[in-house]
Amino acid sequence: MSEKSFKRYTVTSALPYANGPLHIGHLAGCYIPSDIYVRYLRSRERDVAYVCGSDEHGVAITIKAKNEGITPQAVVDRYHELMKDSFKTFGISFDHYSRTSAPIHHETAAGLFKELYDKGEFIEQVTEQYYDKEAGQFLADRYIEGTCPKCGYEHAYGDQCEKCGSSLSPTDLINPKSKLSGNSPVLKETKHWFMDLGRYTAFLKKWILEDHKDDWKNNVLGQCRSWLEAGDGLQPRSMTRDMDWGIPVPLPEAEGKVLYVWFDAPIGYISSTKEWAQEKGIDWEPYWKDKDTKLVHFIGKDNIVFHCITFPAILKNLGDFILPENVPANEFLNLEGDKISTSRNWAVWLHEYLEEFPGKQDVLRYVLTANAPETKDNDFTWKDFQTRNNSELVAIYGNFVNRAVVLTHKFFEGKVPERGILSPYDLEVLEEMADFPEKIAQSLERFRFREALGIMMDFARLGNKYLADTEPWKVIKTNPDRTATILNLALNIAANLSIVSAPFLPFTAIKLKETLGLGPLLWKDAGKDQLLITGSEIASATLLFDKIEDEAVEIQVNKLLASKKQNELSNAQIAPMKDIITYDDFAKLDMRIVTILEAEKMKKSKKLLKLTVDTGLGNRTVLSGIAEHFSPEELIGKQVTMLVNLAPRKMMGIDSEGMILMAEDAAGKLKLLHPHEPSNQGSTIS
Ligand code: MF3
Ligand code: ZN
Repeated sequence: MSEKSFKRYTVTSALPYANGPLHIGHLAGCYIPSDIYVRYLRSRERDVAYVCGSDEHGVAITIKAKNEGITPQAVVDRYHELMKDSFKTFGISFDHYSRTSAPIHHETAAGLFKELYDKGEFIEQVTEQYYDKEAGQFLADRYIEGTCPKCGYEHAYGDQCEKCGSSLSPTDLINPKSKLSGNSPVLKETKHWFMDLGRYTAFLKKWILEDHKDDWKNNVLGQCRSWLEAGDGLQPRSMTRDMDWGIPVPLPEAEGKVLYVWFDAPIGYISSTKEWAQEKGIDWEPYWKDKDTKLVHFIGKDNIVFHCITFPAILKNLGDFILPENVPANEFLNLEGDKISTSRNWAVWLHEYLEEFPGKQDVLRYVLTANAPETKDNDFTWKDFQTRNNSELVAIYGNFVNRAVVLTHKFFEGKVPERGILSPYDLEVLEEMADFPEKIAQSLERFRFREALGIMMDFARLGNKYLADTEPWKVIKTNPDRTATILNLALNIAANLSIVSAPFLPFTAIKLKETLGLGPLLWKDAGKDQLLITGSEIASATLLFDKIEDEAVEIQVNKLLASKKQNELSNAQIAPMKDIITYDDFAKLDMRIVTILEAEKMKKSKKLLKLTVDTGLGNRTVLSGIAEHFSPEELIGKQVTMLVNLAPRKMMGIDSEGMILMAEDAAGKLKLLHPHEPSNQGSTIS
């Protein structure tokens, strides 16, 4: 590649909000891709700092705290540990995982704010901001919701529309509503410190749209273009907030105000690097200030504006910082056709996955990479999860390795057999093998993880095909020497596979290396055909992947269906309680258990059924508007409840002499009320 070569790498993954557990959308969005990239870089012996941490400020946290009736600190303490743990279990190999409540971060962020302030970067401005009188609070960011002026989405936040990605101010929202009280807020004056982003337009246009037009992803360039080329240009953005949770604004006149979470969070990458370097006893600055460092931000698409516009503008102004070389943002991952949602419990939670599929972290890593939303939103389905496991990981990768290892034990006492003369086919396969590492590397360097994974699997396929074509289990009967050669080659292919699959399937690669008795290997060893020493012992086969049965995925699908049901019920509009009545009011109602004797459709009416009911007091005719909910046949013979002393009413020329009682479920479906066991005709209800 003719690209500039770098001395070192600083790789970041978006700091997740510490307001809930992690789900597959997080992993697919930016943690798995960055981890693959970093594992690859390390295998190439590059100097890397891979940093992340919990994002513990902002409205995402305070709203969660309010909903749960606990302090913001308690929220972040709980989720910081949980998230850190999940990352570790899934092999996300950060060099350092920090948190934005750490003192080093408070110092760093406040320090950089002060530096910008001293340089005159901020416009100080008193503006009118929305205020919730009832809650006694200004409504920043996610405290306020309304209709997006750009796309019409009705639940846009005060700082951003998640539907179209526009960055917004609360005053842009149409029909704004407080998330605290549901009320329409009022305007109230307050002072804030704004960055005049418009001043950076020319620089950003050149840096992104010209210098990086060929190496940044199209989805990222597209979003940047739409902001940079928008008619009204980049608007000033306030970098402070009226809140009591966050990093206090380091100015005497700013009491009760904190730094905007999107000002402090990206600086978290810097503080995390500092903390890491401190622990290692090295200097952090080259990782952020040396021009030979390649800075790469892995994020999801809702974070593009902050990583391509705001944060670079900050870094640019600070002067001695480098800018990202790339911001490979992914689109969103959906789940079974629906947007992943924490509040609707429409997600696959990592801690639950681990309980249900223990030890199968690599399977999830594989499926999420194979299906990564790299260029467009993508869908995770349990069916696809099962298929990719069974027909790719088990049938190709696992099958190949297993055969090579088992046959070596069967025919050569578990020792790497000696290689004899190579056939033309052997040479062809070895030649093909030698090309794979570079092909995979090229895709990885360009952030094409799906493509890289596909090539890695093609390599496993090559090994699988080699054994299927050469059939050592048959050849052994006539030609043990040839069998030895075949298995020697197959084991070397497997050794290669352990190197090139390690970034994607780190747990599996380690097992494979251990089985083959290999020491540490690097990317530069891949492609070589004599990684194993003849005569060295290999361990017996361990199961790398096993089949996932239909029942296992059915359980998962049912779990999701249960969430869906639960949501429908809780979303239903609960009718408000009616006015209080006295017992006497109630006692006037004459309700009884009755039996439906006849039911027939009414001509010319879609809604009405004509029922004949036995009330114990005699038969009555009742017209009931339930024809769209019940067929006449399913009603006949049923005991139901009826208000029998309702004044008769004429409908379509017939007197209706009472009313059948009914409950209405969340979906508007009507339900009849039956006694729990057969009752006497005319039993009264009281
Ligand atoms: N917490 C943010 C989110 O989950 C991401 C922060 S990324 C950082 O969307 F740059 F601010 F760190
Ligand atoms: Zn919008």
